[in-house]
Amino acid sequence: MSERKIIFSGIKPTGIPTLGSLLGAMSHWEKLSSDYNCLYCVVDMHAITIRLDPAVLRDNGRNMFAWLIALGLDPEKNILYFQSNVPAHAELSWVLNCYTYAGELNRMTQFKDKSAKNTDNINAGLYTYPVLMAADILLYQANLVPVGEDQRQHLELCRDIAERFNKVYGDVFTIPDAFIPPYGARIMGLQNPQNKMSKSDDNANDCIYLSDSPDEIIKKFKRAVTDSDNQIKMSEEKPGISNLLTIYACVTGKTLAEAEAEFADAGYGHFKQSVGEAVAQTLAPYQKEHARLMSDIANLDAIAAKGAAKANEMAAKTLLKVKELIGFN
Ligand code: TYM
Repeated sequence: MSERKIIFSGIKPTGIPTLGSLLGAMSHWEKLSSDYNCLYCVVDMHAITIRLDPAVLRDNGRNMFAWLIALGLDPEKNILYFQSNVPAHAELSWVLNCYTYAGELNRMTQFKDKSAKNTDNINAGLYTYPVLMAADILLYQANLVPVGEDQRQHLELCRDIAERFNKVYGDVFTIPDAFIPPYGARIMGLQNPQNKMSKSDDNANDCIYLSDSPDEIIKKFKRAVTDSDNQIKMSEEKPGISNLLTIYACVTGKTLAEAEAEFADAGYGHFKQSVGEAVAQTLAPYQKEHARLMSDIANLDAIAAKGAAKANEMAAKTLLKVKELIGFN
């Protein structure tokens, strides 16, 4: 690889990706990919902190992998692969576990939220999840990590672990920066705009999946929860409307001010319909490409194998260095 800077990011194959993951992260992956050497990973090892049927996990993984390509990530220019195909992630993760304090993991808000929701399965994987994330990033000496707002704390921990390790062993790891977009970094649920839109949510109306048909998308936006004052503007007191304006601005490429101006005299009904149509239009070509890719699984598997071979080669360099420095025989 040349001297270009490196990007790493990942997505869990726990379901169909949502409009939230597209606007908060994946749409930027494609935009940034021309200026960096990029690795984008389907993090199937992170997915098993919840119980998933093996056939479902395998299917979700392939589907997610196809989305990466359908959204414009050219496998010839980006390294696209499955995390479980590169054993170095697990190996480095163990090492980094020994450089991470329980006190740090106890403070992770996602761990706290997820263990409050899944009281019957608070497993150690859920607890050390951010350490595996740090290994993902540090293995490739990534400079930049494009993610949504919910990953900010994990990124900060990754930097802390890297700095701690470097203090002991010298300049081993590049300290990565988070790339969090100025808006769209936290897309909220359509039914519950206080909560993040999430692919593992039980309420399908809360969430736009990238595979939703135009009818479904428009229906969901028409049902979106708003408020009763009929003004279309960004405001902390108007989480529903602010979320819809943000989505509209992201999918049309307009600024928030332009979006507000466009709907200054409109009613909520017309506004919601317009947001739904804009989203449906944006997703249509991706959906077509996704369907095409899913019709040739052998091709997808071959692309993933090539990506894993390249990732293994890069990861091996960092891992070898770490093992030598630590004193492994
Ligand atoms: P995951 O699979 O939950 O989400 C993938 C990416 O989408 C972003 N995102 C959102 N952004 C805005 N609004 C939303 N409602 C929304 N929902 C999801 C997430 O911030 C994320 O960037 N732990 C990570 C995956 C991961 C990773 C990594 C990321 C594993 N290793 C190393 C970066 C670097 C996760 O669960 O993402």
